[in-house]
Amino acid sequence: MQILSLLRERFAAVLNDLIDNPQLVASSLERIVPSREPQLADYQANIAMPLAKPLGKPPLEIAKSVVDRLKLDDVCETVSIAGAGYINLKLSPKWMSRQLNNATCDDRIGVERTTDPKTFVVDYSSPNVAKPMHVGHIRSTVIGAAIANTLRFLGHRVITDNHLGDWGTQFGMIIYGYKHFRDESAYQSQPVAELSRLYRHIQAMIAYQEAVANLPKMDANIQQASHRVDLAKKKLEETPQDKKAAKELQAAQNKLQEAHDDLAAKQELIAQAESSPTLLSDAKMHPDLNSAVLAETAALHRGEKENLALWNEFLPRCLDEIHAVYDRLGTRFDYEYGESFYHDLLGSVIEELFAKSLAVPSNGAICVFLDGFDAPMIVQKQDGAYLYATTDIATAMFREREFEPDACLYVVDHRQSEHFKKLFAVLEKMGYQHTQFKHISFGTVLGKDGKPFKTRSGSTVGLEPLLDEAVERAWAVACDPNRLQVAGIEMDESEKRQVAEIVGIGAIKYADLSHNRESNYVFDMDKMVQLEGNTAAYIQYSYARTRSILRKAETQEWAREKWETATIDLQAPVEIALGLQLIRFEETLKHSMQDYLPNVITEYLFDTAKLFSSFFDQCPVLKAETEAIGLSRLKLTHLVGQTLKVGLDLLGIQVIERM
Ligand code: ARG
Repeated sequence: MQILSLLRERFAAVLNDLIDNPQLVASSLERIVPSREPQLADYQANIAMPLAKPLGKPPLEIAKSVVDRLKLDDVCETVSIAGAGYINLKLSPKWMSRQLNNATCDDRIGVERTTDPKTFVVDYSSPNVAKPMHVGHIRSTVIGAAIANTLRFLGHRVITDNHLGDWGTQFGMIIYGYKHFRDESAYQSQPVAELSRLYRHIQAMIAYQEAVANLPKMDANIQQASHRVDLAKKKLEETPQDKKAAKELQAAQNKLQEAHDDLAAKQELIAQAESSPTLLSDAKMHPDLNSAVLAETAALHRGEKENLALWNEFLPRCLDEIHAVYDRLGTRFDYEYGESFYHDLLGSVIEELFAKSLAVPSNGAICVFLDGFDAPMIVQKQDGAYLYATTDIATAMFREREFEPDACLYVVDHRQSEHFKKLFAVLEKMGYQHTQFKHISFGTVLGKDGKPFKTRSGSTVGLEPLLDEAVERAWAVACDPNRLQVAGIEMDESEKRQVAEIVGIGAIKYADLSHNRESNYVFDMDKMVQLEGNTAAYIQYSYARTRSILRKAETQEWAREKWETATIDLQAPVEIALGLQLIRFEETLKHSMQDYLPNVITEYLFDTAKLFSSFFDQCPVLKAETEAIGLSRLKLTHLVGQTLKVGLDLLGIQVIERM
């Protein structure tokens, strides 16, 4: 049930009579919004002021003539005018009760399917395989799934595609590592763990070699920066009152500090590498590993037999590992066309770009020059190699042919925003204007120190151990024997394990989704598994509470099964507030998909759970004044539970029947 659309419909009927400018009517309708002052109104129409000029009448007069003609008696309890012409709408509890009763008879809890379904391709998760999945992969996986689920629930056609990085340099790394450094027995017994080790070993050596090679440049940077500081100091001495000069000195000093910090970081990296004799001797024996790795990657792309055979041997093993994580997270995709799938199409991308006069040879490479960007998009390197961008063009072309999407959403780290800006500009020039391409960007996961979340040794935090830790913490909180005893719940080990898994995984997902995706967020395991506050566990607990009340009702003669056919009749103020909240579910989902922000849904669930808690404190359910009131409240409780469950389900989070 969409209140906003209904209100807008009723207003439209009046406004179309008063104004013969459809655009003005449309923009007025946009100004009917949920009220920011719930004590005054449920919805507000701030339409009169902007209409004053075009209609040549005072706002108050306009508001009055709109209100006089409005037919909202069935929906609203009061329609009043405040101040200079704000129209305040308070919904009628009777009307709300009717909507809620309808919603309880429907497994979509009253959410209508859109009358204007679109086709969305959602590209998300998309890890580079052959590297272990780490905490950074959570965001795309969880945000992408929530968006895809919600759009689908609203009635759109949604195609999900995991654009696996299964063809990149990381394979060059493990191929080189396998050929030169593998521990055969480790590979036989635990192939993926050994490949990860090789990947990390090669990566560490490349980082070491680059750091060593960069030292002279960093020294030069420091010299230059300290020279600038000297100049700035001199200038300030000459003109001590000059604020600009003082600022310049500060900026120069900051730059110098940065240069020192950079050097210190590299020196630490070098010291760490040199403390490992194996790393040091391997790196000495294999100088310029970076080029060697690129050569292995190029050989793979040329289809050279040995490398292709190794790739075919490694890939399924890496995928098994990734799929095990997806199974645990409950993530599924319609397609997993990785980068390798497009390899044979890349030549035709270049041809197409030439045919459309977009590609230009430049310094031996092939580029697409774009207005408004400093650098062109390179689509083929001097040595003939294709790039990430080339594959993305091929992917977009393939999706256009295969799915004819109205929109393609790329749920990817904010650091790739430049890449996507260029990609979308190229696609537009290629003639795909009818598709909306959108980068659903997200911020970085930070540690408590405010820096990107790393382990103590400075490496990225692996996803699997993190999930295990969350489950362990969830066990301590949700299955705490004292708490269970007080709640009168007996659980055997297997139920506890299930509860801990659902609460633990839910905690990680919810914590991620509850932050605006554009911002960075601090990964705080202590906070995320709490039963209180804006956490998954709190919502899951609220759901379990609704279930427990309904179970108790089944033990009482007056209530048993009767509540199912009872009618909701909202009376107490907190009941009315809770009812209004439930009716707003569809509005919330649509609102959250305007800018693809799942945190709009988590906020809604949190508010709903809090309202339910106040309702439960203030309105006796099993000991209500009359049976009719008790049955109405039981049914409302049931609808709260269903709403929390559907909402969590859209976020990919499961519920528990008792907790
Ligand atoms: N594999 C890439 C990475 O890990 C992300 C791919 C995102 N999707 C895309 N179509 N480019 O950085």
